[in-house]
Amino acid sequence: MKNKILMRSIVLTVSSFLVTAFPALALGDVSYTNDVKPILHDYCLSCHQPGGKGYERSGLDMSTYQSLMKGTNYGAVIQPGDSFSSVLIQLVEGRAHPSIKMPYGLEGGLSKDKIGLLKTWVKQGAKNN
Ligand code: HEC
Repeated sequence: MKNKILMRSIVLTVSSFLVTAFPALALGDVSYTNDVKPILHDYCLSCHQPGGKGYERSGLDMSTYQSLMKGTNYGAVIQPGDSFSSVLIQLVEGRAHPSIKMPYGLEGGLSKDKIGLLKTWVKQGAKNN
């Protein structure tokens, strides 16, 4: 009897940990419209649309799905299915040079769960969903 209660609380603790650590697991598919776009809008768009300095310097315009997928003047920053080699993910994780960690100039960078959503969306194929 006691063991059963203990098991139950372990299961509950583990599953609530998983939900906190990997929100996308709990939510299933990550949506471009509902999850990704609001993050880009709040943290990236001020610089990454025509007139912004990120756009002027790199050519990366994040105002639409199409322009995001087109990437910079040099090419794509998202490889659907492969978050590790996607430049956009490398930059928000600070895996490239720290001086070009994105969002540019934001102390501490994006939160872990926001980075997690972006990564899961890329891994799931970076769909316009
Ligand atoms: C305060 C302005 C600013 C913000 C906010 C910003 N960026 Fe940038 N971004 C820049 C600038 C400037 C460059 C050009 C960097 C360079 O080439 O030196 C750039 C370049 C990039 C590049 C292209 C790098 C390359 O390969 O040339 C990516 C990808 C990028 N940013 C992603 C993001 C993402 C994702 C966000 C939001 C999470 C973001 N940026 C927010 C200013 C910004």
